[in-house]
Amino acid sequence: MKEWQKETVYQIYPRSFQDSNGDGIGDINGIISRLDYLQNLGIGLIWLTPMYVSPGNDNGYDIADYYQIDPVFGTIDDFERLLNEAHKRDIKIIMDMVLNHTSNENHWFKEALKSKDNPYHDYYIWKDPVDGHEPNNWVSKFSGSAWKYVPELDQYYLHLYDVTMPDLNWRNPKLRNEIFKMLKFWANKGIDGFRLDVINNISKAKDMPNDTFATPLDDGRNFYTNGPHVHEYIHEMYEKVFGPNKFVTVGELSSTPVSEAVKYTNPKRQELSMAFTFHHVKVDYTNGNKWTLGHYKLTDLTSILSKWQVQMNRQGGWNALFWNNHDQPRAISRFTNDEKYRDQSAKLLAMVEFGLQGTPYIYQGDEIAMKNAYFTDISQYNDHESINAYNELIDNGIDKELAIMILQQKSRENARLPMQWNSSKYYGFTTGQPWLKPLHHDDYSVEKVLNMKDNVFNFYKALIFLRKHKAVLVDGEYKLLDANDNSVYSYERSNNNSKIIVMANFTAQEQKRKLAEGFNLILGNYENLQSNEDTVTLRPYESVMFGKKF
Ligand code: NOJ
Repeated sequence: MKEWQKETVYQIYPRSFQDSNGDGIGDINGIISRLDYLQNLGIGLIWLTPMYVSPGNDNGYDIADYYQIDPVFGTIDDFERLLNEAHKRDIKIIMDMVLNHTSNENHWFKEALKSKDNPYHDYYIWKDPVDGHEPNNWVSKFSGSAWKYVPELDQYYLHLYDVTMPDLNWRNPKLRNEIFKMLKFWANKGIDGFRLDVINNISKAKDMPNDTFATPLDDGRNFYTNGPHVHEYIHEMYEKVFGPNKFVTVGELSSTPVSEAVKYTNPKRQELSMAFTFHHVKVDYTNGNKWTLGHYKLTDLTSILSKWQVQMNRQGGWNALFWNNHDQPRAISRFTNDEKYRDQSAKLLAMVEFGLQGTPYIYQGDEIAMKNAYFTDISQYNDHESINAYNELIDNGIDKELAIMILQQKSRENARLPMQWNSSKYYGFTTGQPWLKPLHHDDYSVEKVLNMKDNVFNFYKALIFLRKHKAVLVDGEYKLLDANDNSVYSYERSNNNSKIIVMANFTAQEQKRKLAEGFNLILGNYENLQSNEDTVTLRPYESVMFGKKF
């Protein structure tokens, strides 16, 4: 068993975590000042979203210089101090690495624009116009065509994301060598691993044909998701960087089937340590379309989670477990109840996640039950993806009110509100004006939660502790107990020595369920268990974990 299989990862979105200099943007010194807090929580690794030099069109996922820390976050010395201070506390640091695209302000792209003969031109993906139009019908994940015309070159470049984020050409060995060199630079600084942004998109089909548009999912992704050479490229990075440095790596693998996720993460293949997949957080999309008011059925959610649990384990893959990150609205607002049952909901989601097989991730604020931003006007948004989606909805005749409701439910900006440390105006996040302003004052903060009896933070702490000490949570086989239960998610984990049962009531109504024999309560999100001999009555959003030793 590898150490990172027992540990918990905490994701920091630096821009929104802790500002130390009053400019309204979180920074490295701010993170350092909160390391004791994270150590107290018990996490073993931190994943930092990108802090490299960037114009910030996609909050750092548009890298202009891979070798420099953006001054807005601090200096390279600050970064080294962060590494040092984290390591002193036995916390590992995983950096985000974006290798599918760069910013158009990257030196490579500026050179690429100069002429077709420039050596950097072939670092990117260019095509000539076809009948005066885009080379194919692929759609950008940030809306509109995935191609941008450059009149000076009479060519289009590919951008699967924002128009300011051109895709890199991994077929070019020079580009690959340049990337390996850069990865080694960060490895030599002493970091402990990488989270690899949209890494399954780096290898595009050679002829790049039109897609069918038979469904919203046939928008080009069939020709670049898990493309022809992706496993070779990742294995090459493993051989050159990840393996020799004993890195912990996690790949962001959207739209990926289990069979592929297994290839990326089965240790025998020497690619990545674990996989982020997203099927469970797409459960409330309507026919694959994210930008709708969605509803979900618990049985759909449990069936997706169960499929990944069983099949990854059977084939030697490893899941990264999460509900939230900087690209997802808060799960507490989406799948449970963020008002009357806020604490119970936060704890229920935590228990369900930590009971599953894989490595659990906490996104900043989960541990204090942070909820969606619920912005009421498009002017309150910064995020290009959300703004483009809003404009597209309006262009398609959706009225403003509905479009805002859809964003309140689906926009990733919901999760980017500054971290709530205390009850002051901007929650102790900044002494200045935060880059993203909360609309309502939410009275939940670290300070308040830590003073509450049986609080969410301590519940997470208990779960992190359990994961470290109960092997069955790491290696136990998973079994869904009732696939047709649309109110309570019950599953079992078992190895040769013990068994765990998790039961989680995803409704605001009481639910009675059979209690298996010989199990003891390990943890629950209500004070006492309501049970008689063979029945447990689960109160609204109640979740319980039972255990039994053989
Ligand atoms: C995934 C990142 O998590 C997201 O924030 C970003 O917009 C895209 N990749 C593009 O890099």
